Amino acid sequence: MIELTDIHKAFNEGQPNEYWALRGIDLNIAAGQVTALSGPSGSGKTTLLTLLGCLSRPTRGRVRLKAQDVSGLPERFLTDIRRQTFGFVFQQFNLIRGLSALDNVMLPAYPLGLPHRELRDKAEAQLAALDLGHRRDARVEWLSGGEQQRVAIARALINSPEVVIADEPTANLDTALSKQFMTILERLLDEGRTVLLTSHDPLVVESAVVATVVRLRDGKLVEAQMLFQPAIIALLLASLLSAWRCLPPQPLSPRN
Ligand SMILES: Nc1ncnc2c1ncn2[C@@H]1O[C@H](COP(=O)(O)OP(=O)(O)OP(=O)(O)O)[C@@H](O)[C@H]1O
Ligand SMILES: [Mg+2]
Repeated sequence: MIELTDIHKAFNEGQPNEYWALRGIDLNIAAGQVTALSGPSGSGKTTLLTLLGCLSRPTRGRVRLKAQDVSGLPERFLTDIRRQTFGFVFQQFNLIRGLSALDNVMLPAYPLGLPHRELRDKAEAQLAALDLGHRRDARVEWLSGGEQQRVAIARALINSPEVVIADEPTANLDTALSKQFMTILERLLDEGRTVLLTSHDPLVVESAVVATVVRLRDGKLVEAQMLFQPAIIALLLASLLSAWRCLPPQPLSPRN
């Protein structure tokens, strides 16, 4: 779904403080899966995530989204692509203080020009699906960390994005809330969405819901590991078994 070819990203290019955060990344992101970017602090996870989500452009290399080269597109086209394709959950949630949970969720949908009533209903439905219906009118700064995170997720989902992008989604959550986040991930997968996230958290990276872990170090790919999930193993075993049952009986070979 998203294809990166030889991606390099420099900050402050040409300046004395020039820094190459990504140094030659080739990566294919499959649709309908959870892909986790993992690696030490400073290894380039957030930088890579912003490129995948068309929030920034590579210094060199090519980004293709559904076979369309988006690396060189002007900003106004990228803005449209972002709005139509991606929903973002940032590490600090980036909610607007002083506004209610409901207003925060509605914000990214305003540019689409839906009738206000329809938009409100959609936002209420998103909050209710995340068990936050009763807190919809509360200002976001009054909410707990886990509640704020769910508002951020509801906001990311308001335009029904194909791809949900989350930077360290469980970094500010305790274990119970992190587990709740994993349940939300399962729901997103059931809805057919693609999820890209960064995480240091073993609870996330080693979870069965994550299909691929991409490991980074010093701006380079260490490995992209396909995890064998229980469902895939069961499928493989079942097909092996049925192939074995269909084999014709072997004639006994005469002994010499
Ligand atoms: N805007 C910027 N200007 C200059 N350097 C930057 C900028 N953004 C990131 N960097 C540098 O690029 C490198 C990669 O940063 P990035 O934020 O992608 O790391 P990360 O893997 O997400 O780390 P963490 O786990 O701490 O979030 C870091 O060394 C960082 O200092
Ligand atoms: Mg980061």
